[in-house]
Amino acid sequence: MGTSRKHVVVFRKIPDDLLGRIAERHDVVVADPRRADELPRFRDALRDACGLIGSSYKLGASELAEAVNLRVISSISVGVDNYELPFLKQRGITLCHTPGVLTETTADTVFALIIATSRRLVELSNHVREGRWTRNIGDDLFGWDVHGKTLGVLGFGRIGQAVARRAALGFEMPVIYHDPFDVPVPAVLDGRVQRASFDDVLARADIVALTLPLSDETRGLMDARAFATMKPGAIFVNGSRGAIVREDALLAALDSGHLRAAGLDVFAVEPLPHDSPLRSHPKVTPLPHIGSATHETRRAMAELATENLLRVLDGAAPVSAFDLSRI
Ligand code: DGY
Repeated sequence: MGTSRKHVVVFRKIPDDLLGRIAERHDVVVADPRRADELPRFRDALRDACGLIGSSYKLGASELAEAVNLRVISSISVGVDNYELPFLKQRGITLCHTPGVLTETTADTVFALIIATSRRLVELSNHVREGRWTRNIGDDLFGWDVHGKTLGVLGFGRIGQAVARRAALGFEMPVIYHDPFDVPVPAVLDGRVQRASFDDVLARADIVALTLPLSDETRGLMDARAFATMKPGAIFVNGSRGAIVREDALLAALDSGHLRAAGLDVFAVEPLPHDSPLRSHPKVTPLPHIGSATHETRRAMAELATENLLRVLDGAAPVSAFDLSRI
């Protein structure tokens, strides 16, 4: 096991005690490349870096080409779409991520969007805040039930299953799901969920929740055809990645009245540009990518990412490497 000090670049804020843990063992540069004033320092530090830890920054092959000593990227995220996987594979760089610790929190966020869109929570809260609650509301402001509705889950990985568990066990919702892989159904959901084709899920669900990872296969998957296949009056919720959705097609489906509402935690471009029609569309409940953003979960993610980084730099196996042999 290697014990010598190595160069580490921390490119996203992590708690001080974890930063201290890394700095005890290695030489650390903290630089956030999303800040113009820190980008040159980040680029400079890359040249010596053996390890990188951070998230929410697209690390392209041309930038990483400079990092000739790089051995590990420890991402504080479960999604790995910010990294060029073939490049990492070819260079033999270990990519670690943080699955598991954020599953329940992200499923909570997806479910919050399901309830918020169906019951029009944000719109009606604004009704009160803006002083428009001057008499009892009428059916023009009623929402739609969540319990008992059919939920379609696209992507039956950890998060999709956690959403399905909330729906089936907590809200008595029939759940249908589609996943490109033959995922085993956990015992707790046995007999409570049904596998279906992609089109079948779209056609039968009252609410469709997207929990697929972004990849070459899923980019743009929710296009005009997919939205047209959804049931008239259905609700669409996205808790995974914005680029899986053709936002122009989603807007058209909302504007035509084909879809009732959309709850979106993620967007093709983040932060959502000011002039995006999704920002203030009356049928859209937008969130600023908060899937895993609780104190407890972000702490757990940073801890796991720190552990992964230190292990790889020590020559040991990380807790959660992304399997680059899959690509
Ligand atoms: C994840 O962990 O992938 C979250 O979406 C944060 O980026």
